[in-house]
Amino acid sequence: MTANLIKDGVYSVGAVDWNERHFHGCTYITKRGVTYNSYLIIDEKITLIDTVRKGFEKDLIENIKSVVDLSRIDIIIINHIEPDHSGALPEILKLCPNAEIYGTEKARQGILKYYGIYGSWISVKSGYSLNIGKRTLDFVDMSMIHWPDSMLTYSAYDKILFSNDAFGQHYATSKIFDDEVDFAALMDEAQKYYSNILWPFNMLITAKLSTIKKLNLNIEFIAPSHGFVWRRYISEIMQKYAYWASHSCQNRVAVVYETMWNSTEKMAKKIVEGINSEGIEAALFDVTKNDRPDIISYMLDAKGWIFGSSTHDGEILPVISGFLHFLKGSKAKGRKSFVFGSYGWSGEAVKEIENTISDITSLEPSLRVVFSPSDEELKKCFEAGKSFALKIKN
Ligand code: FEO
Repeated sequence: MTANLIKDGVYSVGAVDWNERHFHGCTYITKRGVTYNSYLIIDEKITLIDTVRKGFEKDLIENIKSVVDLSRIDIIIINHIEPDHSGALPEILKLCPNAEIYGTEKARQGILKYYGIYGSWISVKSGYSLNIGKRTLDFVDMSMIHWPDSMLTYSAYDKILFSNDAFGQHYATSKIFDDEVDFAALMDEAQKYYSNILWPFNMLITAKLSTIKKLNLNIEFIAPSHGFVWRRYISEIMQKYAYWASHSCQNRVAVVYETMWNSTEKMAKKIVEGINSEGIEAALFDVTKNDRPDIISYMLDAKGWIFGSSTHDGEILPVISGFLHFLKGSKAKGRKSFVFGSYGWSGEAVKEIENTISDITSLEPSLRVVFSPSDEELKKCFEAGKSFALKIKN
């Protein structure tokens, strides 16, 4: 890779992680890889915005060097301390030890804890402006979107919003801009990113979008720290964020299940048939065969969520158990659900699922069958799906 010009004096100098498949531990399967974007501004004071993940320092250093010697960096801005953005900071600081670092006070504390250093740190918050020559950089607090330290940086001169995690997508690419990639694939990754990382912060995001609107920023580019830079589809992604953050839903249903001997699966398929009979879209997800981020992404704006599990040793099956605990973190609102499953002699799984999700969805009566569903029981599954679809429509 090399430095890529965003506009006069502003370069993208980050790294591409083509082979990353398990981001955030195993919480996010990144089928298209990941980028760690970092931006270099050439002005009277040379400024680096964010770094990259540890292990990619060489890429970052080489990319910066293709524009300017690192010893000339005057300022480093840390919009967010998570290690995918701050991991290279210790190595970078060795090459520009006199650089001043700007970030929130929470970021300073976090950097100290992670790396045992924080250099010449200046703590900033919303309203703080930093003049670097022709440009003045403004900082906007983004606390808890999605970490306590988060902030974003705006350059009015360039009309660029350096948004860090916000508006990101996990999409390894040698291209830079949103209009250089298939639009549907781009939005698919943006939705997956929102649903798997930002969904729990819907309320704060709604408030922050309103704050940003009031600031009346003139934005020609949104430069996130993952994926493509937005320049053509800025209003589209802003509208999508407002929509996702509002807990809005479509009349469609996700049926998510795990099965031992296909009995729970038979129930799931019949429930889907019942839903479809009322003209409502439903998607069937066996949690052992689909990637969790894909299911979560579909569920982001699906009004109906139906869950099924066989009972094993008096417990819910393990993969859907982990799935539901992850989903619970979404703090979703306004969903309708019911739970189903087959069992041999005790059947605790259904109750266990209900207990797990009762905070984030309203529950309709459950369906349980012993061993394999009979024709009569399958008919009940169909009717349950049909009746659920009617409730979704209303
Ligand atoms: Fe991309 Fe919160 O780190």
